[in-house]
Order: sequence, then structure tokens, then C-alpha cells
Amino acid sequence: MPRVDELVDYLSAHHPRHGEKVARNLASVAGMKDDLVMFLERYQPFMERGQIGWEQLADAYLTMVNQMTAARLDFMRSGKYPAEDQTQAVQDVYSHEQVMTEYMLGLALSQFLWKHHYQVYSFYRSRIRRIPQVTAALEVGTGHGLFLLDMLTAHPEVRTSDVVDISDISLGLTKSLLQVVAPDAARAIRWVHDDVVRFEPGMSYDFITMGEVLEHVPDPVRVLSRLAHLLTPTGRMFVSTCANCPTIDHIYHFHSVQEIRDTIGRAGFHIEEEDVVPSEDVSAEDLERYRLDILYAAILRA
Ligand SMILES: C[S@@+](CC[C@H](N)C(=O)[O-])C[C@H]1O[C@@H](n2cnc3c(N)ncnc32)[C@H](O)[C@@H]1O
Repeated sequence: MPRVDELVDYLSAHHPRHGEKVARNLASVAGMKDDLVMFLERYQPFMERGQIGWEQLADAYLTMVNQMTAARLDFMRSGKYPAEDQTQAVQDVYSHEQVMTEYMLGLALSQFLWKHHYQVYSFYRSRIRRIPQVTAALEVGTGHGLFLLDMLTAHPEVRTSDVVDISDISLGLTKSLLQVVAPDAARAIRWVHDDVVRFEPGMSYDFITMGEVLEHVPDPVRVLSRLAHLLTPTGRMFVSTCANCPTIDHIYHFHSVQEIRDTIGRAGFHIEEEDVVPSEDVSAEDLERYRLDILYAAILRA
């Protein structure tokens, strides 16, 4: 694995403006650089197993950055997200081996390079550590698998761990990560390849994780309502999503944070705690004026 400065040099050589931004983030956000070092070390055996070189990881990340830039430019002109509907996202992204693999590798790395992703990831890690006990856990839309790995590391007492994802490729990547990095935990996981709206486990969970999925579904209230019924009476759910965040597989456009809160409320959830994270260091007026990405994360109870 590269040292952090080698990785930053590589990104700067291939995308100078973005490389500069990453270097600024790593220098200014407390803990980010150390967590990046730990991530690169932890990810190495998974990458070796998949014969993924670190330059390939960096290239996958840059592909994602370029896709997002293109989607943003288009969004500024049209006001629309690139994918027409879920069918198109399934065909062009979730079931496309190369596109999905690059996207998930890039997204994994972005947790340690982007301030707003790092903040949401840190919110998740700190909140799950505060929960005294988790016996049955569900993750919806695991993607790269890092949230699942953190949940199972923080809570070795988990007895049932279910993972549902519409993409077989996400499930494969996450399974491979867990098998290499946390083999005991991996053996107990039930992997379900399906749309969350069809998921009927016949049991309830004391913790549900659903990071960055709501903007991928046609009817977020329907998805949240189903999950509200899958929580135990004292259960909690972590949810994150975003407003004004065009990318290749986003289909549900939240226009504001308040719209996200209203959606959560309509599905029967109460917001226990939340974190609102703008993607850029600009004023609230400019965020709204330029319709820039805002991430939203919360801990919910039903
Ligand atoms: C952007 S990734 C999120 C990865 C990770 N949870 C995070 O927060 O960074 C979205 C994931 O949700 C999955 N997904 C999208 N729509 C879904 C649906 N209707 N049911 C289940 N999984 C879905 C995708 O396949 C992908 O793995």
C-alpha cells in the first residue's frame, strides 16, 4: 500500500485541482489522516485477494470524482439527476461489474478523503459505539462494506447480521472484505440479494444501518415505513442521505434538509439526533443558491 503522501501525489498528478483539495482536507481535519492510514492498512489484504493494486484504487476514486463532476455540471443546467429511474440504475450501475466495482472502491476511499463523507462516517462510528448491546443487526445497501465492518467490530456480541443489497456486486465486495478482515463475523452473515422493498426477514432488529440508499429508491417513505416495522421497540436506525446530490445512480431528488426530515417523519420515525453536513465550505445562502450537495445523517427510533 502507498504511504499517504504517495497517494496524494498520485491524485495530484492525475487531477491537480482535486489533489490540492484532498491535501487540504487531510491537513485540516482532525483524525482524517490517521484514519486514512488505518484504512489503507486494513484494506490491503482485501485488495491483495482481489488483485487490486493501489493505483487501481486511486483510479477508481478519480473515475467517481469525474462522474460526479459531470453529473453536477449537467444538474446545474437541467436541475435533474442523470439516471431516469431505478431500472436504469440497476442496468447501468448496480449490475455492471466494472462500473459498480470502481464506484464502490472509490466511495470507500472517499470516506477518508472528503470532509463531508468523513464526518458522516465518524458520526456513525461514534454513535454505534455508544449503544450498549446489539444482538440482531440489519444493513441495507452495504455498498463497500465499511459500515458493516465497523458495526461488527464494535459489537462482537451480534448474533444475527443480515445484509440486503440490490447489487450482487456490492454484496460480493463486502463479503470478500469481511471474509478477509473479519472472518468469524463474516461466517454468521446472511447475504440477501434483493430490493429492500421486497425484503421480508420474519424477525426484527435492534439496529438497522442504511447509509446513502434513500436517494437511490423511487419511494423513500415506502422503504422507511417497512424498516420502521422491522425495529424492536427499543431499536435504533442510522440513516444517511443527501439533498441536491446528482450522481450516476441517484434517482430521488431531495431538494432540502427539511424535505428529508419530513420524509422520515411521514414514515413514522422520530429523529433522535442528526448531523447536517454541507459538501463545501460556503454560506447557507450559497449552498441553496447553487444547489450544492448537503449530506444528512441521523439516528432514528420508530
Ligand atoms: C451509495 S451505496 C452506499 C454504500 C454505504 N452504505 C455508504 O453509506 O457509503 C448504495 C448502496 O445501496 C444499494 N441499493 C440501492 N438501491 C437499493 C435497494 N432498492 N435495495 C437494496 N439496496 C439498494 C446499492 O446497490 C449500493 O450498494
